[in-house]
Amino acid sequence: ITHANDTVNRPLVHLTPHEGWMNDPNGLWYDAKEELWHVYYQYNPNDTVWGLPLYWGHSTSKNLTLWDDVGVAIEPMANNSGAYSGCMVIDYSNTTGFFGEDVSPEQRVVAIWTYNTPESETQYLSYSLDGGYSFRSYSGNPVLENNSTQFRDPKVMWHEETQKWIMVVAKAQQFKIGIYTSDDLKEWTPVSDFTRGGYLGYQYECPGLVKLPVEGNTSAGNGSWVLFVSINPGSPQGGSSTQYFIGDFNGTHFIPTYENTNSIDSGKDYYALQTFFNSPDNQTYGIAWASNWQYSAFVPTDPWRSSMSLVRKFVLEEFQANPETKLLNIKSTPILDYDALGCAHPSNGKNLFITVGNPLQFSLVQGLFDFNISFSVNGSAFGGHEFADLSLYLRGGENKDEYLRIGFGANAATFFIDRGHTAVNWVHENPFFTDKMSVNNQPLTISNNSTISTYSVRGIVDRNILELYFNNGSQVSTNTFFFTGGNFIGSIDMAVGKDNVFNVTEFSLKQLST
Ligand code: FRU
Repeated sequence: ITHANDTVNRPLVHLTPHEGWMNDPNGLWYDAKEELWHVYYQYNPNDTVWGLPLYWGHSTSKNLTLWDDVGVAIEPMANNSGAYSGCMVIDYSNTTGFFGEDVSPEQRVVAIWTYNTPESETQYLSYSLDGGYSFRSYSGNPVLENNSTQFRDPKVMWHEETQKWIMVVAKAQQFKIGIYTSDDLKEWTPVSDFTRGGYLGYQYECPGLVKLPVEGNTSAGNGSWVLFVSINPGSPQGGSSTQYFIGDFNGTHFIPTYENTNSIDSGKDYYALQTFFNSPDNQTYGIAWASNWQYSAFVPTDPWRSSMSLVRKFVLEEFQANPETKLLNIKSTPILDYDALGCAHPSNGKNLFITVGNPLQFSLVQGLFDFNISFSVNGSAFGGHEFADLSLYLRGGENKDEYLRIGFGANAATFFIDRGHTAVNWVHENPFFTDKMSVNNQPLTISNNSTISTYSVRGIVDRNILELYFNNGSQVSTNTFFFTGGNFIGSIDMAVGKDNVFNVTEFSLKQLST
């Protein structure tokens, strides 16, 4: 279906539903036979706000860049109920007995999801005999209940060492992540609760457990376990966000290595992260809902609401949190397939000379582009209380008064994002749509005498969403923004607030098209 409004603000490489409402990603898996990625999501086809009955929508992609909407996959049984969030696993060796020889092992998908009714939240199984398009409900449902209305979002993985299925599931309002094990996905044994870690907010949602490799030579050896927990509302950014713990998992218990919690993305629009069950290179990929429950029902898009983030690959790395301490940290790399996109006028400049009052200008079309900026900051060239900034003004092509301003404040040694310069009244009127955010990004390198620090930032803009990756993905910030319809970003002005502080050592820009 094509709507007149489709060109207005709809992202091109971020998954959106054709029409209707979307929230959390669900059921992520990769079909190795068809070489096709499957993403399901919380979906209300009847309105552009969340509501019951709630379904699983379904999109597929060959390249994680361009998406096909392939219709509803799972339906709830009653109008006042919902097929809430959950995951999918591939039951290669038919532990469930759901599959005959005619279904190839790579396509034996079982969805484990929460059935929400006014009385309870319980865990259900559905399985597909046609490669993930249509699903049958298991006759023995529910497979897990807890006498609760707040027991949801199961994420299941196969644990090689113990040869068991492992489920993590939110006991949302007890601030517990329940861990269960099973041989056949049908019978589940409770083995432990991970209790009250990190930020609590109002409730825990959408947990996930994965083992990630550690980059480089570190004491963490061949990898560490990571437990993701989404919280909403009451996150540090305001509203919803995704945190994670690093620790060990022994088949029954998750034991955090450190007490601290981390945000996987410091922006306002990255929630309910889920990782793919599998991937062709055995790496961990994930996708999040690029919105925030604080304002998701009001954002000015039509006839759909919400998009997903880009798919990201996750690894652990050692991260210099400050001069004295290194921490293990998740590093995120966005997946964007340039071969699937047109790439016009790539430009690349080195050692750009910018002075106060003489910004550099770069032109763009279409509102889809990828840029990299590397710069150094000379700490001896400005006073402690001077506001010395390097700013990129990402301006609308039709109306330059609408712009995103992003940049680095040398005094605060912090990156900033300002999405408040728009004629869209909603942005100014909605008190939760925070217009200014910052990211405490550490230098990539620092000179021996500590005067010169270097930084690098990659940004991907897709119509109404900006993803920023700092220092090769050590930190990330994902934020949506809204300009007047059709006023896509058409130019970038690069400006400095003080001379001799910044040296832009490299700036590259790729204009992309679908
Ligand atoms: C998270 C969430 C989940 C729930 C789903 C309902 O955003 O609240 O806990 O399963 O959304 O749509």
